[in-house]
Amino acid sequence: MLQDKTILLGVGGGPLTSTAVEVLRTLQRAGAGVRVVISAETETFVPGLTFRSLADGDVIMPGDLYGRMGAQDFHSLHGLVKNADGLVVVPATPALIAKAAAGLADEALVRAMLLHDGPTVFAFVARAAEYRHPLARHNVQRLRDAGMILCDAGVAETDDAADELGWNIAAATVVDAVAAALRQTTVLSGRTVIITAGPTQEPIDPVRHISNTSSGKTGFALAEAARQRGAEVVLITGPTHLQAPAGVTCVPVRTAVQMRDAVRQHVAAADVVIKSAAVSDFRPATAIADKIKKEDATLSITLERNPDILAELGAAKGNRVLVGFAAETRDLLANAKRKVSKKALDLIVANDVSDPAIGFASDHNRVHLIDAAGGVEPLPVMSKRALAETILDRVQAVLTQRQGGTA
Ligand code: CTP
Repeated sequence: MLQDKTILLGVGGGPLTSTAVEVLRTLQRAGAGVRVVISAETETFVPGLTFRSLADGDVIMPGDLYGRMGAQDFHSLHGLVKNADGLVVVPATPALIAKAAAGLADEALVRAMLLHDGPTVFAFVARAAEYRHPLARHNVQRLRDAGMILCDAGVAETDDAADELGWNIAAATVVDAVAAALRQTTVLSGRTVIITAGPTQEPIDPVRHISNTSSGKTGFALAEAARQRGAEVVLITGPTHLQAPAGVTCVPVRTAVQMRDAVRQHVAAADVVIKSAAVSDFRPATAIADKIKKEDATLSITLERNPDILAELGAAKGNRVLVGFAAETRDLLANAKRKVSKKALDLIVANDVSDPAIGFASDHNRVHLIDAAGGVEPLPVMSKRALAETILDRVQAVLTQRQGGTA
């Protein structure tokens, strides 16, 4: 997996800086070319010359981006980042984790993290008390929510002085995490993924419509995560307040019929379709051209059925991976299982929308995943970004299995 890949190694400063040297050598032994950016703290522990002697190319030294770092260095930083397949930060100290979580790009290493578009792995090292501190946990969560991978020794049992988390992190573990992250990127790389998101709006008159409370957050998180895994993403979205992720083809629509047309237009090229949109099942039979006046209004609106886009996709599925969502307020699993077989899905994300603490407007959700064989996987409460990553992991497993490989 690492053969001929280019890995950018970001080196933090701490007692485990020497592990970064080992990671560098292990990556090289696995066939990767390693470029290095060192942090402001690194040279207190290991001189930059060590990395200069071992790296496959220039080593970017720390420095104030707008001060000490010259234009030449800045140029090489861009070049390094552009050509990197993955970025790994060893040791990722609490200070580096905090800077990364805040996007505080006051040194070359953090700037590289922000410029990098591929998988990023942090080998997190901290003392137990630091690790457990709410601010550290908050920062770690922010990185995870942004799709980054934290590699650590887990929560320590004691506050013993010798108990520095990450003392247990072997270079091989870090390199395995990098290989896994690259593998994750590779399966979807170059594939076309259609994601539908948000609600639809079905006009009653020019200023009124039927809709629902879907925020679009899960669909947008899926689009961003799939893009970062190298997929060509077409995001077909109903009206939301969200900004489309960079690098994604965004097709804004309003109604279910428009969403169906957009899906039909793009589906021929798609390897995967994920239908996270909350499509209105019904629309007013006639949309009135002028605003309805109080005195004109009848008391009822006649509705007609919208097309079931997902069922149409299921009926002409081909080799595509098809993922649906089920929003239920009762009999969650039974209803979701029924939809898996009725719409020929590979996976359904079953969402209990009766719980106001999670679901539509929230940044978090708790769902069950149900596969084509009826297997149920209950997931814990997680951020929508983390959920997106989990869904994509399962999609990749189906794609790999379909090709007769291993995930
Ligand atoms: N869906 C769709 N087109 C529709 C309605 C739903 O493509 N007209 C898709 C949604 O995007 C979602 C899945 O079908 O992925 C399930 O939507 P949901 O509303 O939970 O279920 P329905 O199939 O509409 O069934 P019901 O309303 O009876 O629960």
